[in-house]
Amino acid sequence: MKTNILIQTKRLILRTVTLADREHVASSWKLDAEPISLNEAEQKILWMQANHEKNLPGKIFHLCLSIIIKDTNEFIGWCGLDHLDQEKTDPALFYLLKAKFWGKGYATEAATALLKYAFTEMNLVSIHGSADPENHASIRIMENLGMQFMGLAKNGCPVYSITKEADGINPF
Ligand SMILES: CC(C)(COP(=O)(O)OP(=O)(O)OC[C@H]1O[C@@H](n2cnc3c(N)ncnc32)[C@H](O)[C@@H]1OP(=O)(O)O)[C@@H](O)C(=O)NCCC(=O)NCCS
Repeated sequence: MKTNILIQTKRLILRTVTLADREHVASSWKLDAEPISLNEAEQKILWMQANHEKNLPGKIFHLCLSIIIKDTNEFIGWCGLDHLDQEKTDPALFYLLKAKFWGKGYATEAATALLKYAFTEMNLVSIHGSADPENHASIRIMENLGMQFMGLAKNGCPVYSITKEADGINPF
């Protein structure tokens, strides 16, 4: 399916990660660890692009999009859907922003648009999300997205879920 994705919100652009993003990918691959090398970042990006090519309508493998601020063209992080483990019932939502961009509603704005895209353009039927119990911001985002609390996973992390039918929130 489409591998060159571009989604626009009020303040953001979500788009396929490209090799031009390698410095950002290197510096933010793991927020709590040293940057990875540019060579490693390029390999990660090629891996992401190869994953996009495996996605089919209604059956996603992995999707990872760069989040860019429209006005300044700054790369601020990424978001996506992970269904690498096809034994899991549905894909998992993820988002990660550079710390200086936290608290401005960007992750909620990006995830809202991503869910819309997933349900309308990719024809997915359900998406789940999970976070460490102490990650209050991530949990709040899932609640604000209209995701329903499903219970605790074996690792004690709360699990949330949303279906295509329930996704009635307006895109930004
Ligand atoms: C989680 C993360 C993406 C949030 O990004 P963000 O752009 O700051 O999120 P938003 O501003 O869109 O929304 C955060 C929400 O959490 C709330 N929040 C933030 N910190 C909170 C806290 N300590 N307790 C309760 N609520 C909190 C905010 O008020 C906001 O809710 P609101 O819109 O109802 O006011 C960002 O912190 C991040 O990248 N963290 C590291 C990676 C990560 O943890 N990813 C999630 C893995 S599951």
